[in-house]
Amino acid sequence: MIKLLYLEASPRQDNSYSSRVAKAFLDSYRERNPDHEVEHLPLFDRELPAFGAEGANQKMDNIMNLFTGGSGIEVEGEWAGVMQEIERLKSADKVLLSSAMWNYNVPYRLKHWIDLVVQVGASVMVNEKGEYVGQITGRPLQMIIASGSPYEDRFPLESDGSKTDFMRPYLDHIFRFLGFTDIRCLRVMPTGIPSPETEDMVARCEEQARAAARVF
Ligand SMILES: Cc1cc2nc3c(=O)[nH]c(=O)nc-3n(C[C@H](O)[C@H](O)[C@H](O)COP(=O)(O)O)c2cc1C
Repeated sequence: MIKLLYLEASPRQDNSYSSRVAKAFLDSYRERNPDHEVEHLPLFDRELPAFGAEGANQKMDNIMNLFTGGSGIEVEGEWAGVMQEIERLKSADKVLLSSAMWNYNVPYRLKHWIDLVVQVGASVMVNEKGEYVGQITGRPLQMIIASGSPYEDRFPLESDGSKTDFMRPYLDHIFRFLGFTDIRCLRVMPTGIPSPETEDMVARCEEQARAAARVF
């Protein structure tokens, strides 16, 4: 069965603009694909596996093990949590990510998930030329990002001053590193000051999301 993994990275539930637009996307997606499975991972409501000293040391041991001709370390302790989250991502044919912008980047719960699944030696391998090769390939990613202020879709420029978007280029980079090439992004912004204009903007985003879901 085709599976869509939905990562939700705002804790604000009904008040969240990114979740609201993602809901429009999912309603439209489900209508068109009633037989597809949707796995919902609300990152603020689920305890993700820990990744601390043990996991970080296991990661480096695993790289050394592979580098010296081994087939990887024992899957136990924190490394088992890492493998569990990588397997969850690998089991998905499509990925939907909705997220708030916090302090010009991703909220910490999404960074926690990223620090679990992005692992050289597991989800990203190194070839004979020393190049990184992402292992999570052939899947489209739809991102829906909400921010209080508006931002340009480009790599940060010095002239962006105190309003610099590190989030979209970071997410773009991290998912390309994992092996994604089909990355679509819908931005819900500016949400900072609720007003009739904000509601109009969100309604337009919901319409775009429904259209995006029809070709996802
Ligand atoms: C802790 C926190 C940090 C935020 N940082 C930023 C920021 O750096 N830039 C910005 O434009 N908006 C920022 N905002 C506003 C949110 O991006 C905005 O409320 C957005 O709609 C959040 O997505 P959500 O509605 O899906 O929760 C911040 C909000 C919070 C709660």
